[in-house]
Amino acid sequence: MARTVRFHETGDPHVLRLEELEVGEPGPGEVRIRVEAIGLNRAEAMFRRDRYIEPVKRLPARLGYEAAGVIEAVGAGVTGLSPAQRVSVVPAFSQNDYGVYAEQAIVPAAAVVRRPDNVDAVSGAAFWMPFVTVYGALVEIGGMRAGDTVVLNAASSSVGLAAIQTANRLGAIPIAVTRTAAKKERLHKEGAAAVIVSDEEDVVACVRGLTGGRGADHVLDAVAGPGVTDLARAVAPDGTIFLYGALSGRPTPHPGMELGMPALNVRTYTLFEVTRDPRRLRRAEAFVASGLETGAFRPVVDRTFELEEIVRAHEYLESNAQIGKIVVTVPR
Ligand SMILES: NC(=O)c1ccc[n+]([C@@H]2O[C@H](COP(=O)([O-])OP(=O)(O)OC[C@H]3O[C@@H](n4cnc5c(N)ncnc54)[C@H](OP(=O)(O)O)[C@@H]3O)[C@@H](O)[C@H]2O)c1
Repeated sequence: MARTVRFHETGDPHVLRLEELEVGEPGPGEVRIRVEAIGLNRAEAMFRRDRYIEPVKRLPARLGYEAAGVIEAVGAGVTGLSPAQRVSVVPAFSQNDYGVYAEQAIVPAAAVVRRPDNVDAVSGAAFWMPFVTVYGALVEIGGMRAGDTVVLNAASSSVGLAAIQTANRLGAIPIAVTRTAAKKERLHKEGAAAVIVSDEEDVVACVRGLTGGRGADHVLDAVAGPGVTDLARAVAPDGTIFLYGALSGRPTPHPGMELGMPALNVRTYTLFEVTRDPRRLRRAEAFVASGLETGAFRPVVDRTFELEEIVRAHEYLESNAQIGKIVVTVPR
């Protein structure tokens, strides 16, 4: 039996319950993990509210995409993984099928990456998703090069901070956008070349000023909604806007239609484009692991909670006070 988080109805954080459940053995292509730490992700809060990109298909539901732990058992047909290995779990599955908010969890072997010896459980639960997300958009698809500029909003999110580190590693220029001046100084310390406070400054004018009028080569938009039209004014003619989140919760117009149909590259993106493609995932793994090895990448953990504090942890996630990842630890 393992303590497992589930919800029996969708809604605010209080719907989350910690329950004792039978875990069972991993099936073909699966592994069972003793979970040591869980990285929280906005997608989980959205899934809990049934506002995620996929609906909750049945209740009670599990949740959770990111974790670090140790393999306990491997199912039939799994190669290259064995009990006692230290691993991290990356989002490569549907939360309707699997969830890692638990003391023990069964996940697909394809969602497991090795955790380097020098990476503790909290860091191992914190860094994969953000860095793999950014790698896929900016490096694998966007082909980001030295000297490129990248505008990223929700800059204090785990993905925003990973984008700052990734841009700096490649010699590109990260321009961070946050709503609040309170986070400005910290974002500079985290490596942003410039920080725009969207509640106080004109994002388009600032980006144009910072890029000599050309606009940004890449835009990573976690917010979407009506603000996407401003981002379309701030991107260079041959640049790309990656819509990868929907924090605004508002409908997103097609900015090209708003702006008189200029040539405009705007695409939606999820990290599943990487994590469900074994070759891309292996490249992402190498990119992220080598960045950790050299110190170019370091996970930014805002705060940790324990598993029994899962409701408070989700409340804190939705408060938007965090800078970096919120991690839930699972005491043995
Ligand atoms: N497509 C993918 O594959 C993928 C993968 C991972 C994450 N995501 C998405 O990326 C985003 C960040 O995820 P995360 O888990 O790293 O986030 P997080 O830690 O929950 O990020 C929260 C930050 O986003 C900003 N924010 C929140 N609501 C906002 C709003 N209405 N308008 C503008 N900014 C807002 C806040 O920063 P300020 O107050 O400083 O503005 C807040 O601190 C989420 O939308 C998530 O769904 C997508």
